[in-house]
Amino acid sequence: MDQTAKATVRTLPDAQTVTEVRHWTDRLFSFRVTRPQSLRFRSGEFVMIGLLGDNGKPLLRAYSIASPSWDEELEFYSIKVPDGPLTSKLQHIQPGQEIILRPKPVGTLVLDALLPGKRIWFLATGTGIAPFASLMRDPETYEKYEQVVMMHTCRTADELEYGRQLVEGLKNDPLIGEMVEGKLLYYPTTTREESAYMGRITDNLQNGKVFADLGIAPMDPATDRAMVCGSLAFNQDVKTVLEGFGLTEGANSDPKEYVVEKAFVGDGI
Ligand code: FAD
Ligand code: A2P
Repeated sequence: MDQTAKATVRTLPDAQTVTEVRHWTDRLFSFRVTRPQSLRFRSGEFVMIGLLGDNGKPLLRAYSIASPSWDEELEFYSIKVPDGPLTSKLQHIQPGQEIILRPKPVGTLVLDALLPGKRIWFLATGTGIAPFASLMRDPETYEKYEQVVMMHTCRTADELEYGRQLVEGLKNDPLIGEMVEGKLLYYPTTTREESAYMGRITDNLQNGKVFADLGIAPMDPATDRAMVCGSLAFNQDVKTVLEGFGLTEGANSDPKEYVVEKAFVGDGI
């Protein structure tokens, strides 16, 4: 962003300053911004963020907040769509520059939208891990559940790296390191590159591989809860699998055994 654009964004009421940017691959990056003092949100929710468009109007997109509700800054994990109206520009942001952030968090991937249970599953592909990056760092997750299973699937291993480093770092986190110990099970898989664990989330649930690999019991609606975040096709296929285990879909207003959110709105669907 050039100096002129920066000065223009500063005049907007919802501007926040970028504090850190990290590029993970040529398609993925994460960044942190200042948090509006008045912003309260529940881990797992999303907000609208963006930049000023070429026409001088805000160009906003939905983004899951990847940081937990206790964090004094906000973190986001983003795709870089080469011709994407927002991310073709957003991928070039630098610390000190500003983005627009509408402080109205919403979303279904919140702990309140589920009935109490013993084990919670976070099921994500690609940037769909963002809401779970928040929930995995929230003490409430470990207060409410005895076990947390994070399944994250990408085509290649480098695309798993943001999640892998986050999970690794949790063990040494002064706030929740002890809570996480022995409770958080991480199951990253790739589908188009050789790695320790492979396969689609749907397949690994249906053929029982994930239960065998982790040495845990299969899903049971009496004890298991799930949150799903990926493409529309992924979400639909996972819903079928979860329903097969006897889980039913809930919402903020009607808590049940699982909830779903789109990680993005795809082409033509
Ligand atoms: P767009 O015109 O918005 O998208 C162009 C095309 O790129 C889409 O049709 C789709 O095919 C593809 N695409 C868009 N986003 C993604 C993605 N995340 N992964 C893979 N392909 C994608 N995006 C994030 O990167 N991180 C988030 O945390 C995030 N949270 C979201 C939460 C919700 C509830 C929704 C609905 C979307 C979320 N998105 C997220 C998608 C985001 O809103 C934008 O679509 C994305 O930033 C690309 O914006 P764009 O203007 O560059 O391209
Ligand atoms: P696959 O490589 O077998 O298509 P994408 O990059 O296309 O968004 O996909 C991200 C990850 O999600 C990939 O590992 C992909 O597996 C997987 N995936 C895509 N669609 C589905 C689906 N309908 N069900 C399960 N996994 C899916």
